Amino acid sequence: MLRIEELYAYYGMAQSLHGVSLSLAEGDIAGIIGPNGAGKSTLMDAIMGLVRTQGSIKLDGHEIRGLSPADLVKSGIGYAPERAHLFPYMSVRDNLLVGAYTARADIERNLELVHDLFPVLRERWAQETATQSGGERQMVSLGRALMTSPRILLVDEPTIGLAPRICSAIAEALLRLNRETGLTILIAEQNVNFAMELARHVHVLETGRIAVEGPAQQLRSDPELAKAYFGH
Ligand SMILES: Nc1ncnc2c1ncn2[C@@H]1O[C@H](COP(=O)(O)OP(=O)(O)OP(=O)(O)O)[C@@H](O)[C@H]1O
Ligand SMILES: [Mg+2]
Repeated sequence: MLRIEELYAYYGMAQSLHGVSLSLAEGDIAGIIGPNGAGKSTLMDAIMGLVRTQGSIKLDGHEIRGLSPADLVKSGIGYAPERAHLFPYMSVRDNLLVGAYTARADIERNLELVHDLFPVLRERWAQETATQSGGERQMVSLGRALMTSPRILLVDEPTIGLAPRICSAIAEALLRLNRETGLTILIAEQNVNFAMELARHVHVLETGRIAVEGPAQQLRSDPELAKAYFGH
């Protein structure tokens, strides 16, 4: 569904991705893991047309590199960026509706989906996101991305700073979305355990290059890799 080939990304003169290639099959959940500064967020920003790139990004065989972020959202790519980036003095409901800009016909259905996944957002619909907990804000961020009616969801570090119980709720919601709606998901994570719990394929990113990749099951069971990358 998504095929990235030899992707280079640049912030001004600084190069952050050095020829990244990866493929994501429809209905898959893939993880990008790697330490601080490895380029996980850059890769997501590159897919969303938010940084300068060279190389190829194809969606269903069509080149999408160079499209505007708005056109990428319209073509079915949803993005929940690192640290959520919500509008703090707008309500939960209005933050969700911002995501619906390009998918107005689906508003009722998508709101129902988001409320079903995260019931707390239905109860707190009028609350300003500035006064929410970190976990609730992460739910709004995922919800806003779902309001775009995505076929692929990019999620950047959804568990950062959250308690294990909230991480589990978010993992459960992502698994449900994948299982029940067939949503294809790409998750960037430093939280290796979280990523390994969800992802069927894992790509380890190191200083802007894919160092190792393969089925999560296989990486987990290789003692050398497990020790080098997963700490056990
Ligand atoms: N706006 C920017 N301007 C210049 N360099 C940047 C910018 N954003 C990121 N970089 C650089 O690009 C590289 C990759 O950063 P990136 O944020 O993609 O890493 P990451 O894997 O997401 O890290 P983290 O786990 O800390 O979020 C780093 O060397 C970083 O300093
Ligand atoms: Mg990041």
